[in-house]
Amino acid sequence: MRIMFIGDVVGSPGRKMIQDYVPALKKKYGPTVTIINGENAAGGKGITEAIYRNFLECGAQAVTLGNHAWDNRGVFEFIDQAKYLVRPANFPEGAPGSGICYVKCNSVEVAIINLQGRTFLPPIDCPFKKADELIAEAEKRTSIIFVDFHAEATSEKQAMGWYLDGRVTAVVGTHTHVQTADNRILPKGTAYITDVGMTGPYDGILGVEREAVLKRFLTSLPVRFEVTDGRTQLSGVVIDVSPQTGKATKIERIMINDDHLSFEV
Ligand SMILES: [Fe+2]
Repeated sequence: MRIMFIGDVVGSPGRKMIQDYVPALKKKYGPTVTIINGENAAGGKGITEAIYRNFLECGAQAVTLGNHAWDNRGVFEFIDQAKYLVRPANFPEGAPGSGICYVKCNSVEVAIINLQGRTFLPPIDCPFKKADELIAEAEKRTSIIFVDFHAEATSEKQAMGWYLDGRVTAVVGTHTHVQTADNRILPKGTAYITDVGMTGPYDGILGVEREAVLKRFLTSLPVRFEVTDGRTQLSGVVIDVSPQTGKATKIERIMINDDHLSFEV
């Protein structure tokens, strides 16, 4: 079986890339399950119900979130009913929504877990201990466990990869928006990449208008960050999995932009 994961979709440019490319990518790679990180999908911050539903219509089976999960306040109206929308599991007790979901495709069940790092991000519950807890729960149902670890620090992401090696199918990093070239299968069979990269504007700074970010760096004055327009990109990974063992056998990067057009529709 195969899992396709698309990294952080940013604003309407990112949503357009999902609409334009995901059906064709599905045709090319034939994934059993497709997962999208949508935490920046609504104007760069959070997600709406319409966007969540549109991602499912475009062919995703689950949508993960991150530190911007609550930025679009409309999320509180629908997250408890959105069975395939997964927010960081280590948010404090009582947070709405769920940090794990299960997707069944062709008699194969996949557990999808979202966790958030704590280095250079708000202090929340321990993602490592929460991972232990959720893996124990998921293992009762399936050996195929996918983890989106939404974190800032490379060290924390690598630590999670090694911590979960052999216990989950994949640990993919999100949040930093720049795809890393360290995709690998760890010794005990877990697919790993530090960051999948983002889907959206190609010529901004992490998807945001360059001018605003530069003003912040040059003056330290408060500025409003807006999603920029212009050229776009899509970043993702495709992971091959043994359905019997839940171990990953291959992880390949997808990067579509004007400099790395690895795929054309
Ligand atoms: Fe993020």
